[in-house]
Amino acid sequence: SLLLFTAVFILTADYIKNRRPGSFPPGPRAFPIVGNLFTVDYNRTHESLTQVTDRYGDVYSLRMGQTWIVVLNRFDVLKEALVDQGDVLADRPNLPLLQDISQGLGVIFSNGKIWKQQRRFALSTLKHFGFGKKSLKPVILEEFSYCAKEFKSHKGKPFDPHLILNNAVSNIICSLVFGHRFEYGDEKFMELMSWFGKGLELEASIWAQLYNSFPLLMRRLPGPHQTVQHIWNSVKDFIRVEVKEHKHNWDPSDNRDYIDCYLSEIQMADDTFDEENLVVCVFDLFLAGSETTSTTLRWAFLYMVKYPEIQAKVQAEIDKVVGTSRQPSMEDRADLPYTDAVIHEIQRMSNIVPLSLPHVTTRDIRLGGYTIPKGVTIIPNLTSVLFDKNEWETPDAFNPGHFLNPEGKFVKRAAFIPFSAGKRVCLGENLARMELFLFFTSLMQHFTFSMPAGVKPVMDFRFGITLSPLPYEVCLTSR
Ligand code: HEM
Repeated sequence: SLLLFTAVFILTADYIKNRRPGSFPPGPRAFPIVGNLFTVDYNRTHESLTQVTDRYGDVYSLRMGQTWIVVLNRFDVLKEALVDQGDVLADRPNLPLLQDISQGLGVIFSNGKIWKQQRRFALSTLKHFGFGKKSLKPVILEEFSYCAKEFKSHKGKPFDPHLILNNAVSNIICSLVFGHRFEYGDEKFMELMSWFGKGLELEASIWAQLYNSFPLLMRRLPGPHQTVQHIWNSVKDFIRVEVKEHKHNWDPSDNRDYIDCYLSEIQMADDTFDEENLVVCVFDLFLAGSETTSTTLRWAFLYMVKYPEIQAKVQAEIDKVVGTSRQPSMEDRADLPYTDAVIHEIQRMSNIVPLSLPHVTTRDIRLGGYTIPKGVTIIPNLTSVLFDKNEWETPDAFNPGHFLNPEGKFVKRAAFIPFSAGKRVCLGENLARMELFLFFTSLMQHFTFSMPAGVKPVMDFRFGITLSPLPYEVCLTSR
């Protein structure tokens, strides 16, 4: 009877503590203790969370363990929240798994003064090296030529482009941050890349949810959540070695890259700049900047083999505007409306950060007729915008026409928000767009993409914060 009494006591206490507050957004019934933790399909979290809107509307709530979250859906709601009331949603929640890794430092998971200073510094340094006098364009195009050489070595036979693309795209961030690139197939670098993939996947798993919901308990239990820490620590050690080498041969009068600039900033003794913050910032730029763009390109390959007629149209436009004797440049974009529309449609359909990153309310906020109190985790569901049938003519079909007017001119669409919006909008948006444009047009200029004989492209995905295609092989024939 003591057991029964304890059980009743715990359940009653849980019920009283975790009742959905009166003016709070509605949502599915939460179970005792675990809430809605097990009602989500973590292999397709974004689809699970989008389906809930059918019943509960565009602003709804879920309880993950002991923590309430509110999921925001559709363009109007996201705009009102992230842009119009952006100040209230500028912070990230204090999720135990993320805090263990970043300790509140860096850009992606920091808040307040640290976030403001680190974000501003990262943006201005990327601008200096990326778009200022030391333009990134030659770096990207040079990297493309290495990548093309590697692709050509397969002589049109089937191969998996994943690692080469990862390496190529990461090399652009490496050039910016470390001041050097890594040869394709460099063992240490390959290991680093596989850590990132594995780490992200674990972050999106049920283990991560359990850890964030019950940190004190989970910290003591074995399981994949312990591996995540190990993985991220290995990445940080890798970065520490780079920082040490930079310090060793650093010339403050000639800053070569982001790390050098940061070392100068530390010397000026500005408050939130120190070596530990440097390591986390580099980690963030690397994490956010390599996997995302290379995953988008992997989807691009798949869409081009699935729709050869679209591929041929892109190639014809590039042949006409750029020709074959020079490399494409950003100035060509305005003259390549169809190609530009295809790149946008690839980003929309591949939806690679389907739930953006979590935010938290820093004050009570009114949204969609409900009051969400301070301190509630907010998930901006980008999927609900990128596939909204009220925004797109054919939301589930690959259709470059979404970004073209009847005269074939490129048109911007407000609901195109793969980089999210507001104060936390992707810091690398300009860089990513430049990389995607230059890589994609160069690829189309040099190669024709096809599937190995008898194989059909599989458009299914794997969810791990980002949505990535399943491994596949492709044939690249030189044009
Ligand atoms: C944040 C998407 C490439 C750096 C984000 C967010 C999204 C996103 C959805 C979350 C925004 C939010 O919290 O509401 C993408 C996509 C990319 C891409 C789709 C490529 C196709 C990059 C690149 C960099 C980068 C190349 C490298 C510099 C960051 C950083 C943040 C971020 C540092 C955190 C910003 C903050 O918390 O203030 N990105 N990203 N991203 N991204 Fe990207």
